[in-house]
Amino acid sequence: MKRLNIQVPVQEYEMREELKMLRTNIQFCGADKKAIVVTSCIAGEGKSTTALDLAISLSQLKKKVLLVDCDMRKSVLASRTSAKAEYGLSHYLSGQASVEDITYAVNVPGLYIQFAGPVVPNPTELLSTDMFGRMIHSFKDICDYIILDAPPLGLVVDAAIIAKNCDGSVIVMESGAIKYKLAQNVKSKLEASGCPILGVILNKVDRKKDGGYYGKYYGKYYGKYYE
Ligand SMILES: Nc1ncnc2c1ncn2[C@@H]1O[C@H](COP(=O)(O)OP(=O)(O)OP(=O)(O)O)[C@@H](O)[C@H]1O
Ligand SMILES: [Mg+2]
Repeated sequence: MKRLNIQVPVQEYEMREELKMLRTNIQFCGADKKAIVVTSCIAGEGKSTTALDLAISLSQLKKKVLLVDCDMRKSVLASRTSAKAEYGLSHYLSGQASVEDITYAVNVPGLYIQFAGPVVPNPTELLSTDMFGRMIHSFKDICDYIILDAPPLGLVVDAAIIAKNCDGSVIVMESGAIKYKLAQNVKSKLEASGCPILGVILNKVDRKKDGGYYGKYYGKYYGKYYE
């Protein structure tokens, strides 16, 4: 396995506290909830931000965490962390690299990352292969958590395919941006995949608007169970 330096996001105090609450809620979902997919209804609601922050936050509990960037359409993880990874998930799923090649130990103790790799024309097909499911399954024996960053389920089906191989899902929802019907639609798709919804993260909450003191940061993680 290769080592790689990433630029780690610096969080404000309030954000760190919200992340602690999120990771605590995830821990209380049970020890069998290891592979967790992060999705949303539409683009830009904060999935990638949340997935990275959550993975780092869990690793700070001395957990072994694998963060997988499954968004082979519009990946941002490598550029956002200024990581110079040679191989990514699309290389592995298309048979051009091994699991060892695409798994990087980074400069956050306990955190391992698989970047998405180059944009591919057929991400849904690649994610549908046995290779993907088998790989996620094999990491469950090694890692405490696998956090999977997925594309928005209201727009493309990839997240439902990823969810089939996961123990739980989390929906990131931008405050005030999503219509009820679309949220229902995404919920139904996740349920149809057989992956339990662990909760919803209300993101980009304008606390000033709500009479609070601070600006924008993570909202509440509603520990709502649909199981
Ligand atoms: N809590 C927040 N407060 C303010 N800005 C945020 C917050 N969360 C995310 N953002 C910003 O919103 C933008 C979109 O975030 P991000 O890339 O995480 O979304 P995404 O859901 O992964 O998008 P995509 O669907 O394109 O993959 C980024 O510029 C990010 O910095
Ligand atoms: Mg994203």
